[in-house]
Amino acid sequence: MISRLWAKLGKSSSNAAEPLAADNVPKHIAIIMDGNGRWAKKRGLPRIAGHHTGMKTVKRIVMEADRLGVKYLTLYAFSTENWKRPKDEVEFLMKLPQQFLEIELAELIEKNVQVRMMGHKENLPSFTLSAVEEAITKTAHNTGLVLNFALNYGGRREMLEAIKEIAADVQDGRLSTEQIDEQLLSSRLLSGDIPDPDLLIRTSGELRLSNFMLWQLAYSEMWFTNVYWPEFNEAHLQEAIQEYQRRARRYGGL
Ligand code: IPE
Ligand code: IPE
Ligand code: MG
Repeated sequence: MISRLWAKLGKSSSNAAEPLAADNVPKHIAIIMDGNGRWAKKRGLPRIAGHHTGMKTVKRIVMEADRLGVKYLTLYAFSTENWKRPKDEVEFLMKLPQQFLEIELAELIEKNVQVRMMGHKENLPSFTLSAVEEAITKTAHNTGLVLNFALNYGGRREMLEAIKEIAADVQDGRLSTEQIDEQLLSSRLLSGDIPDPDLLIRTSGELRLSNFMLWQLAYSEMWFTNVYWPEFNEAHLQEAIQEYQRRARRYGGL
């Protein structure tokens, strides 16, 4: 109970050294990488410094997730609502994928990582999209960790677009209403064939979804920490997985 509480508060739990059960590592971890701005502010730095350091955390966490045997890692990098931010900040954020991939793509390829993107392609600057698409193409045949970037992603918009697509299929006779089931809707979402997240992590102390994977998170375990994303590290990820391994997933059953 106490260690559970500590884990929730993001302090290192007394069980931090407890080994992970290799047979119960979440297959899919989704992370809302939050708190870059506050991390920077706390240090008297501009917000973009937080985003820059947050990019280094991405690298560390990708490598650690891969090492631990996670199969899918989805990272919320930019939401459909983040366009509301000041132009300078949006511009900086749009340059990050290219910067990240310039530095890391070679190692991702070497590690057999497959890069994917989950998001709305319109509105993304061409240099952002082309950097991501190049990484997707170059890693398409890799069979290791699937690194799924949620970029210009919005859960409600994703569902609306899937529903419109399905409605058009029904209207044109390609589908009957009876064929619309959970599996069909899931397959039409931007996450496509990626299974639902087993574990959702959100950093920075906010306890909300912020329009992230609203359909897919229906039965995910959630873990929140007060730690800001730029200071999130391998030990925090292990702590989240340890907590996940202590949970009983019932899916409404007994
Ligand atoms: C997360 O950090 C990064 C993005 C949302 C792009 P924030 O920029 O939201 O940082 P805070 O929440 O303002 O501290
Ligand atoms: C969610 O964080 C989006 C990403 C981490 C990319 P925000 O910082 O945008 O969420 P709110 O505004 O606090 O809900
Ligand atoms: Mg935030």
